[in-house]
Amino acid sequence: MTDFISRLPKAELHVHIEGTLEPEMMLDLAKRNGHELPFGSLKEVEAAYRFTDLQSFLDIYYQGAAVLRTPEDFYLLMSAYLDRAAADGVRHAEIFFDPQTHTERGIGFEVFMEGLRAGIADARSRHGLSAELILCFLRHLSGADAVKTIHEAEPHLQGVVAVGLDSSERDRPPELFERAYDIARGLGLRAVAHAGEEGPPEYVVGALDILGVERIDHGDNSLQDPDLVERLARDSIPLTVCPLSRVALRGVDTLEDHPLPTMIEHGLNISLHSDDPPYFGGYVAANYAGVQDSLGITDVELAQLARNSVMSSFLDDSRKEGLVTEIDAVVEAEISA
Ligand code: ADE
Ligand code: ZN
Repeated sequence: MTDFISRLPKAELHVHIEGTLEPEMMLDLAKRNGHELPFGSLKEVEAAYRFTDLQSFLDIYYQGAAVLRTPEDFYLLMSAYLDRAAADGVRHAEIFFDPQTHTERGIGFEVFMEGLRAGIADARSRHGLSAELILCFLRHLSGADAVKTIHEAEPHLQGVVAVGLDSSERDRPPELFERAYDIARGLGLRAVAHAGEEGPPEYVVGALDILGVERIDHGDNSLQDPDLVERLARDSIPLTVCPLSRVALRGVDTLEDHPLPTMIEHGLNISLHSDDPPYFGGYVAANYAGVQDSLGITDVELAQLARNSVMSSFLDDSRKEGLVTEIDAVVEAEISA
């Protein structure tokens, strides 16, 4: 990985905190909490990380998340993630969390919110970065469950900037979650959603028109619909693209086959992100390095993707401007070196 990539200021807009659980921490927390895992060693965990599609990954991801029990566990998870993010040049992060994965196991909002918030506060003083949370509804559960979750969340929204939608996409159209999104908007939250990862382009349209989202997470399958591509480009709708995730979940065979160059040619508003980094083989800088090595994306193009990440964030205009100026300075220094 080049020094330029890790020095480039970035916003990480698509990372699941439960998906940042490194195998070592998974085994440690399982032991500490007396939780039985289906894997006994690092080797067995790594062998399980051979996915055939989104569902085969989610099955392992939810098993892993079950080791998280106490505020301290969530604090350790967030702290470890933000240390890695800072080393990759992340200056601002908007981080997904899946409350239903924990409330279903009897772990309440007060437990995970305390740990996640403390991890963010400490990383802010250690690294000078900022981070906010995005509360995701699990789309394999019902719309009524999502409504219940947003009501339960209401007293715990400090540090939460938006709602999102994740988990299994097939046959789970966005309109199932319209009511939960309406309630969230009424509480002052912004909105994003995973769409077009395994689902059809119509789910991207539904996320925009029915849920009113401001960013599409993944969105790769939009390329199947030329009218949608034209709309996304015209309205500069951000797509948070995750190249290593796409390969790991078999959306494409190799990074060389990733359609990022086509997305850029169509003028789409794309930024690069990591999704579930230890599961998919790398944090955000590894995604930048991967597309550079495999697709020949230039430093100038990488810098534009980093600017897009900042401009697509929920930061205020003056912070966005400050970070873009810092990106320009890193590019300038690289050119004149
Ligand atoms: N939850 C964690 N990672 C996810 C992904 N890539 N798609 C949908 N839900 C997820
Ligand atoms: Zn995701």
